[in-house]
Amino acid sequence: MKAEIGTDIDKAAQLLKEGQVVAIPTETVYGLAANCFDIRAVSTVFEVKRRPNFDPLIVHIASAAIMDELARAIPLAARELAAAFWPGPLTLVLPKREIVPYDVTAGLDTVALRMPNHPMTLSLLSKLQFSLAAPSANPFGYISPTTAWHVMQQLGYMIPYILDGGPAEIGIESTIIGFDVDAPVILRYGIITQSDIEKVVGKVKSRVHTSANPQAPGMLDSHYAPKTRLCLIQANEEIPDGYVAYLGFQQWHPTIDRNHQILLSQTGNIYEAARNLYAALRQLDEDGFECIYVSLITDASGEAQAINDRITRAAQNLPAN
Ligand code: TXA
Ligand code: MG
Repeated sequence: MKAEIGTDIDKAAQLLKEGQVVAIPTETVYGLAANCFDIRAVSTVFEVKRRPNFDPLIVHIASAAIMDELARAIPLAARELAAAFWPGPLTLVLPKREIVPYDVTAGLDTVALRMPNHPMTLSLLSKLQFSLAAPSANPFGYISPTTAWHVMQQLGYMIPYILDGGPAEIGIESTIIGFDVDAPVILRYGIITQSDIEKVVGKVKSRVHTSANPQAPGMLDSHYAPKTRLCLIQANEEIPDGYVAYLGFQQWHPTIDRNHQILLSQTGNIYEAARNLYAALRQLDEDGFECIYVSLITDASGEAQAINDRITRAAQNLPAN
């Protein structure tokens, strides 16, 4: 089997109804989607991705109203965040209703929900009687795909169809929010920042995973890693000789051949940087460099924090499990 890349929403809907998995565009990254109530289809997602079964999936929903069908005991703050940011790059972790299979939630009593902001995927969801469980459409431990072609390169032989919605507009995965009894808590940084969230619901906590806190399973440190060794350096730090590359934010590295460098945004635009990050890492990863040197964005904004989070995880270079 080799995937077809196309823009036929009805075809994607038909395949999903038959229990197949289909890659779908979202504004963050591409997802690998299955009917969330079809446990065989859901298990195919885990197989195709080689994802360990302790790592739960996000359920993509057509509207905020579906929250109540899949989740219960929904805090007011969750409703306020959904109203403010959906459709959009925000995932809410809520107590699940019985109808949601444990296969989707990896045995957890909570379910992660998101209404994605992509016209094709919203149209697709509106044609279905079920929601779509979908992790990012990359092999487990590798960089998330931001184009249909990225999906084709890695999963093309395992799925029938890739719905092509163009390059992802945001480029990094959604912000994930859970709810402790006392306050919302950020579980994964994203382009919706802590201050964006606090404007809507007041003070929130953050508990993003570190090696010392493997509580949110999918937030394993190496989750976004390329195969080439990645080394974090200061923007102007000297780089040893060798066949090496540099990935910077706004400024070229003074001693590296510019053909071996990528800048995330020459104008210093943080959104452009997020949009370019994964494609840049993929491109450099394909060139067989001994090492990719990369520097963090020295900017205190929450958006920069999300990008730096992904770069830091990629640079952990633990084996891509
Ligand atoms: O932007 C996104 O969120 C993309 C697009 C496709 O929607 N999806 C995505 O999915 O990044 P994935 O599977 O690569 O990452 C989902 C994360 C994982 O780290 C997983 O552990 C966490 O969400 N997650 C899912 N359900 C959870 C739950 N019930 N409690 C805590 N974390 C959960
Ligand atoms: Mg992922």
